Amino acid sequence: MTRYSRVIGTGGYLPEEIRTNEHISNTVDTSDSWIFERTGIKSRHIAAKHETASSMAEIAARQAIAAAACDLEDIDIIIVATGTPDRVYPSTGCLLQQRLGIKNCVAFDIQAACSGSIFALSIADQYIKSGAAKKVLVVGTEICSRIVDWTDRSTCILFGDGAGAVLLAVSEETGILSTHIHSDGEYEDLLYCPNPQVATDANGQQAGYINMRGNEVFKVAVNTLGRIVDETLEANNMDKSEIDWLVPHQANIRIIAATAKKLKMSMDQVVVTLETQGNTSSASVLLAFNEAVRDGRIQRGQVVLLEAFGAGFTWGSALIRY
Ligand code: UT7
Repeated sequence: MTRYSRVIGTGGYLPEEIRTNEHISNTVDTSDSWIFERTGIKSRHIAAKHETASSMAEIAARQAIAAAACDLEDIDIIIVATGTPDRVYPSTGCLLQQRLGIKNCVAFDIQAACSGSIFALSIADQYIKSGAAKKVLVVGTEICSRIVDWTDRSTCILFGDGAGAVLLAVSEETGILSTHIHSDGEYEDLLYCPNPQVATDANGQQAGYINMRGNEVFKVAVNTLGRIVDETLEANNMDKSEIDWLVPHQANIRIIAATAKKLKMSMDQVVVTLETQGNTSSASVLLAFNEAVRDGRIQRGQVVLLEAFGAGFTWGSALIRY
């Protein structure tokens, strides 16, 4: 039997507070028009004080589990992608396992910055395809607002909070067709967030905020995502025209448009959540996927290309026949 990882449920969560561009322009030297024109973002959701990566993950996960009508005890593995874990340890995966009240499963985190959910999907797919697991819960969850320097206009305008989830199950019908993941540690300096409790870097830097040389990241992202599209199509012996939906990481509308152009896709075939969510790092692809599944845009049998690029650098894709 050929085993595929089939998506049987999706979920998502966005915190209640909405922070608009106008609000941010009251505290730093920026404007709604600059932010919207350069990024495509109008507003983002900000977690309340009591919320954490695991509390948001629980809501998204429960939605995905309910959509799949799956018994909690049937879940073999929980994989959480996050760069903003509640604790250094236990992992957010273990905290989620406890919140869901599941005793007999394995739970762990992976950290690949904005590419985290694609890396997690890739790992889940290997376990399912090999027969080592039947059901895997994948969650991307981030409280970016807590690692953003709200006085730095070059980064604070970009990020938002949220969680997305998918439940995968072994199936003889098609599901994930292929995943492709890559890393290149050479680019550390272009995009990083220090961990002030554990390490001071060579400059004695302590603040645990996102540092980004945006323009340089932008250029590498566009080129790299172009290459991952080619790699994914080639691996599946598929033509651009066979892809129904692009579900990209939501970092910048100009990066998303460049990938759509490469695929000769109209923006109507691209799921964009950026305008109201900003960049939710490892949560963004799963949040967008969940939105388009729930509003009926993505239909069973359609081919969906998920892709992401982030700090590391890390990048990857997942091609799914939904
Ligand atoms: O998710 C992980 C991967 N991350 C990304 O893919 C992000 C990639 N980068 C980007 O999305 C874009 O580079 C940004 C949106 C971050 C910045 O846009 P840009 O068009 O690359 O602008 P820039 O950094 O080249 O800055 C242009 C100008 C500069 O002023 P000068 O030097 O030309 O006078 C900046 O100081 O815009 C200025 N600027 C701003 N002005 C108003 C930078 N941030 C702001 C701001 N408001 N918020």
